[in-house]
Amino acid sequence: MPAWGALLLLWAAAEATTDCPAACTCQALETMGLWVDCGSRGLTALPALPVHTRHLLLANNSLRSVPPGAFDHLPQLQTLDISQNPWHCDCSLTYLRLWLEDHTPDALLHVRCASPRLATRRPLGQLTGYELGNCGWRRRESWDYPSVWWDVALAVLAVLGLALLAGLLCTATDPLG
Ligand SMILES: *[C@@H]1O[C@H](CO)[C@@H](O)[C@H](O)[C@H]1NC(C)=O
Repeated sequence: MPAWGALLLLWAAAEATTDCPAACTCQALETMGLWVDCGSRGLTALPALPVHTRHLLLANNSLRSVPPGAFDHLPQLQTLDISQNPWHCDCSLTYLRLWLEDHTPDALLHVRCASPRLATRRPLGQLTGYELGNCGWRRRESWDYPSVWWDVALAVLAVLGLALLAGLLCTATDPLG
């Protein structure tokens, strides 16, 4: 093995051990990412994950939800096993559902909800966006956005301009005026 290859492996091994969450075991993959095994650890919350995580095993824990954006800092993450957890399938799980839909749609069939009552034992992939709800994100986001208020201001200006124009036309063509 060339020296740089050995160095790379050494670096990968060091990386794997320094960032690994205490509850998990990590293994450097030949393809540079990390295989992170946090399965069957009784976890109730997602641990802080290394940025190079490629395959993440979270099966058989006590996870009920995942904070929105939880995997956004893991650009290499490809597979996620989150089966056998008591998922609480409400609007806060919309992020996880969309993430799975984008990356590993098959996994959605193996993720079953434990609560609330209407979702019990149903696969997360079977719940519609309406059933999950969206916690009001979309609406808040779009109205907080400055360009929306800009559009509203422009529309108001346009209406005022039209009214002014109509007024001018009326007085100009009024035969009694
Ligand atoms: C699930 O995790 C518990 C510990 O939290 C362990 O005792 C049990 O054997 C695990 N089950 C499976 C199927 O891995």
